[in-house]
Amino acid sequence: MKLHGTMTVNSRGHLEIGGCDTVELASTFGTPLYVVDEELFRQNCREYYRAFTEKYGAEVIYAAKTLLTLAICRLVDEEGLGMDVVSGGELYTAIKARFPMSRVYFHGNNKSSEELRLALEARVGRFMVDNFYELEMLNRLAGEMRTRADVILRLTPGVEAHTHEYIKTGQIDSKFGLVIDNGQALAGVRRALEMENIILHGLHCHIGSQIFELDSYAHAAGIMMDFAARVARETGWAPAELDLGGGLGIYYTEGDEPRPVAEYADVIMRAVREKALAHGLPVPRVIVEPGRSISGPAGTTLYTVGAVKDIPGVRKYVAVDGGMGDNPRPALYQSRYEACLANKAAAPAEEVVSIAGKCCESGDMLIWDIALPRVEPGDILAVSCTGAYNYSMSMNYNRLPRPAMVLVRDGQADIIVERETYEDLLRNDVIPERLRRSRRLNVASAR
Ligand code: LLP
Repeated sequence: MKLHGTMTVNSRGHLEIGGCDTVELASTFGTPLYVVDEELFRQNCREYYRAFTEKYGAEVIYAAKTLLTLAICRLVDEEGLGMDVVSGGELYTAIKARFPMSRVYFHGNNKSSEELRLALEARVGRFMVDNFYELEMLNRLAGEMRTRADVILRLTPGVEAHTHEYIKTGQIDSKFGLVIDNGQALAGVRRALEMENIILHGLHCHIGSQIFELDSYAHAAGIMMDFAARVARETGWAPAELDLGGGLGIYYTEGDEPRPVAEYADVIMRAVREKALAHGLPVPRVIVEPGRSISGPAGTTLYTVGAVKDIPGVRKYVAVDGGMGDNPRPALYQSRYEACLANKAAAPAEEVVSIAGKCCESGDMLIWDIALPRVEPGDILAVSCTGAYNYSMSMNYNRLPRPAMVLVRDGQADIIVERETYEDLLRNDVIPERLRRSRRLNVASAR
């Protein structure tokens, strides 16, 4: 496993993150345990802030869907980033964390009227409107609430990003956004401009996630600016804001070669500026929405090894106390991860094993064929780069309680999400009155 962020191996041969011995973290807080490297999370925010905001005056909004808790909101706020939320639940988290609402951008392809009302009341900075249905509803609700909604229109630029089928979004056949090519986007702009309670500020696109080719971004930026020029010609309105989404790829395993954020910023800004110049348009305020590249590398998940099952000549299965419940990505996208034994971090690899989760699914495999030191029950397995789309996509399949999360920094570890209890699992369960009295039907005949 590649050490990164504040990871080191200490004199006991244990993996350390944020100055905390991960073997001790496992025994203090239990496993599975999400560990967030505060320093690295902040550094990643700062890298974006420097590359986009300081250098170009562009705005960076953190994609909350990757990892969101009240404490994470505090970090994002302190680092001066805005926030992209996609649901009432994410918005509510930001509200409760007292995140500045003017820096909140509200995404989502099917926002409900309740969600839109909550956002109008909270006075979020921007509504990222996805479709005509939402545009009409937002205009109506804003009118009812005697306010106006600040809007950016989401478009589909028709860019195919090279990434997993489920996480590419810029192509024409997509559930997101208004298509440029078939005239829907222009119609959307016209409609938004004539609406009384809508203030149209700009245009948005997002081409996908875990992307390494910066050319795709330049390409998308070019298409958006060409469209902006056409809109300006036909309506006299030019976007003051251009949001180019998120998606920068990160390192998970060998072969992943992430591009530096500064380069990503330069490529985008160059494309936007050149096009603005060519079309005689003002350079819009650029917005980017990174998620994974901020939170992903900052997270590590700790597990305890349980059953080790050797099938001679076939495979050695090492089962851990979590799996697809806390990290559904391998099962969903065939994602690959690196790991090490946190309590044997200095030991050389001795065997190739496969890491299984504990769900009742053959597909619940976290890592196939990984070289590790000799694995024994009780070892602590650390899987790296689990900060994005792990906790946020976690679930209670098989009624497994969700793990706790600790924020580590300078030798200090603080709980930021409590471990779920069995009681938590039952919190919303209800036995209707008619089932309360115990009676067994057909006991005899069933036997
Ligand atoms: N902006 C928009 C409009 C998005 O849809 C997304 C991600 C982002 C920003 C942030 O993208 P990032 O920088 O994190 O790549 N669950 C999948 C990824 C789904 C991506 C959803 N949208 C996974 O685990 O790989």
